[in-house]
Amino acid sequence: MSRAWDRLGGRLGRIAYGGDYNPEQWPRPVWREDARLMREAGVNLVTVGVFSWAVLEPRPGHYDFGLTDEVLDLMHDHGIAVDLATPTAAPPPWFSRLHPEALPVTADGTRLWHGSRQAFCPSSPAYTEYASALVEELAKRYADHPALALWHVHNEWGNHNAHCFCDTSAAAFRRWLRQKYGTLDELNHAWGTAFWSQRYGDWEEIMPPLATPAFVNPTQHLDHQRFSSGELLALHRREAGILRRHSPGVPLTTNLMGTLEKKTDGFAFAPECDLISVDHYLTAADPRAHIGLSLDADLARGMASGEPWILMEHSTSAVNWQPRNVAKTPGQMRRNSLAHLARGADGIMFFQWRQSRAGAEKWHSAMLPHGGTDTEIWREVTSLGAALDSLAEVRGSRVRAEVAVLFDWQAWWALELEARPSQDLRYLDLVRRWYEALWSNALTCDLVHPGADLSSYRLVLVPSLYATTDADASSLAAFVERGGQAAIGFFSGVADEHDHVRLGGHPGAYRELLGLRAEEFHPLREDETIALSDGSRAGLWSERIRADGAETVLSFAADASGGPVPGGPAVTRHPYGRGSAWYIATAPEEGTLRDLLRGIAGNAGVSPAANVPIGVEAVRRHGCGTTYLFLINHTDQPARVAAEGRELLHGTQVTGLIDVPPGDVAVIREDPHGHDGPPLQAPAAHAARPSWT
Ligand code: GLA
Repeated sequence: MSRAWDRLGGRLGRIAYGGDYNPEQWPRPVWREDARLMREAGVNLVTVGVFSWAVLEPRPGHYDFGLTDEVLDLMHDHGIAVDLATPTAAPPPWFSRLHPEALPVTADGTRLWHGSRQAFCPSSPAYTEYASALVEELAKRYADHPALALWHVHNEWGNHNAHCFCDTSAAAFRRWLRQKYGTLDELNHAWGTAFWSQRYGDWEEIMPPLATPAFVNPTQHLDHQRFSSGELLALHRREAGILRRHSPGVPLTTNLMGTLEKKTDGFAFAPECDLISVDHYLTAADPRAHIGLSLDADLARGMASGEPWILMEHSTSAVNWQPRNVAKTPGQMRRNSLAHLARGADGIMFFQWRQSRAGAEKWHSAMLPHGGTDTEIWREVTSLGAALDSLAEVRGSRVRAEVAVLFDWQAWWALELEARPSQDLRYLDLVRRWYEALWSNALTCDLVHPGADLSSYRLVLVPSLYATTDADASSLAAFVERGGQAAIGFFSGVADEHDHVRLGGHPGAYRELLGLRAEEFHPLREDETIALSDGSRAGLWSERIRADGAETVLSFAADASGGPVPGGPAVTRHPYGRGSAWYIATAPEEGTLRDLLRGIAGNAGVSPAANVPIGVEAVRRHGCGTTYLFLINHTDQPARVAAEGRELLHGTQVTGLIDVPPGDVAVIREDPHGHDGPPLQAPAAHAARPSWT
C-alpha cells in the first residue's frame, strides 16, 4: 500500500464517504446544520473550496481566509476530514477584466467570457501567475491544519477549456513543437507536409489547427491534442509542486474524468497524483449505464496501478447537464456506489453535499436535497453511510485481474481524427463492446496503458488501438511469446504515433504476431449486417485477409450474405511463441463476441469471479487472507449464486447458496484462505461454448 493510502486510510479508519462542500453558497447558520447532518449520514471526508477563488481573493492580491478558516475548524470539531481544493478552476471576473488576453479562444476564433467556469487559456502566463500565488497562500495557511487530509488540485482539468486557439496558445504550441522535433525538417516529415503543399519554412508559420476549409493536417491535429493535454499537466505539476513544498506529508490528488473526458490523457496525469480519484456520471439515455460505470471503475484502478482509488464525484440522483436528466430509481445509487467499491474504490463521494439553491447546478441532485431530510434521497444517503460502515474491513483490499484491456487516450484521439474509413468507428463504442462481453461473463479486467507491464496477466485484449508505437507493439508480442494470449480488434496497429500508415499490409504493428495480412478494408454501410460462418451476424467492418500462419476460427459467410469478402477469415488464431494471438476483423453480434471472449479467456486459463446469470455483476476484492465477493443484481429477477461465508451488509451466514433479490447487493467475506473463482462455465442464460475453443 502506498504511503498516501497509509496516511489517508489510516486517518479515516473507514471507507471515505462525503462530497463537495460549498459553504460559500449558504449563510453561516446553515454550516452548523451541515456539520450535524454530515455526522448523521456517516460523512467523514468533504471536498472544500473547489470554486472559492472569488471568496479567497476578492480583489487582485488581497486574500481573505476567514470563511475557510471557520469551515475547516468546524469540520475538524465534528471529526470530519477535509480534502482541500485549490480553487483554480474558476478565476473570478476581476481576473478576466484585468487580463482579457487570458480568456480562451475556440478553433473558429471566438473568445469565451467569464460568467461560467474554467474561462482561462491553459497557456496564459497571467493565469499561471495568479493561480500559483493563490495556491502558495492556501498551502502556507493550511499545510498544518488538523482537518487537512488530502489536497485536491484544481477541478477536472480541461473539462471546458482544454483546447485554446489564442495567440498565446499558438506561441506555446510552437515552443512545444520546437522542443519535440528540434528541426523543421523533422516536423515536416512527421506531419507529412509534402501532402497538399503544407511544407513549413519558418516556425512562425505554424498555427494550432484552427478552422480550415478542408481536412486539417491529421498529425498537426494529433500533436495539438497532445500539446493541450500537456499544458494542463504542466499547470497541475506546478500546483502540485507548491503544495508538496509546503506540506510534503499530505497526499494529493486531482479528480480525473476517465472516459467522460477525451481531451486529457488520464494515464499522463496519474503518476502526478499520490492517489487516484475520478468522477463518474451515468448517461441516463444508456440502458446499460451500469456497465459503463464498471468500465470506468476498472480504468480508475488501471490508472491507480491496482491500488485503491477514490470515487470523488458521482450523483445521488439526476444530473442537470444531459438532454433529459432522469432521476435514479430506488436502490440505484446504492448499487452504483457499491459497484465502484467492488472494483477497488476506497472512497465514495458525491457532487455535492447540499443541493444549490441558485446558480447553474441547482437542478443537480445532491446528498442533502432541496426537500431536506424527510426525503427518499436523504434516507438512501444515510443508509449508504451505514452500509459503508459495515464494509469498513474491505478497505485496502485489492481487485486482482487476470485480463488486461489496453486503453489509450492517444489512440482514441488518433482514431477519431477526420477522414477515416468509417465515421462509425468510435473509440469508446469499440472498447465498450468488448468490455460488455467480459462483464457479462463476470471476467474482471484492468484497463491499462499499452506501455504497462503486462507480466501479471494471462490475457490481453486490444479492442481498438489504431495508432501504436513500435515499443508497445513489441511489448505485446513479447507477452504472447512468453505464453500469454492476446486478442486484437480490427483497425488496430495500422498507424504509428505520427499517424503514418505502417506499410506492407495491415495491421503493420501486429502482422507477424497475428500471422496474417489484411489487404483492404471493407467498412460496412450504416446499420448493415453480414453473416458469419456460424450463422451469427456482424456489423461495422470487414476486411480482406490473407492468412500467413493464422488459422481461421470464423469466416464471413461464403455466399452473398457474407458481405464484401465472402468466405474470408473473420476471426483468426495464430500460435506465437508459447502463446497465441487472435484477430477479430469485424464487430460480431453481442452473443457471439461474448462467447468468443469467454472461449479465449478459457484458453488463457482465466476464471470468472463467480458463475452468475447475465445482468448480475460479480467482482472479488482480495484482502489479507480474506476475499470479498461482491454480487450486484442489476436485473428484475432474483439471482441464486454459489457462495460461502458471511454476508456483511445484512450480517448473515451464507452456506452454499445466496439469493440476491432484484436490484440488491451482497458482499460476502469468503473463507480465510482466499478464493480464486470457479472454473469457467457458460452463464446460465446463454448457450454453451462454441466447439472451436
Ligand atoms: C463535474 C464537476 C462538478 C459538477 C458536476 C456536475 O463533475 O466537477 O463541479 O459540475 O460535474 O455533474
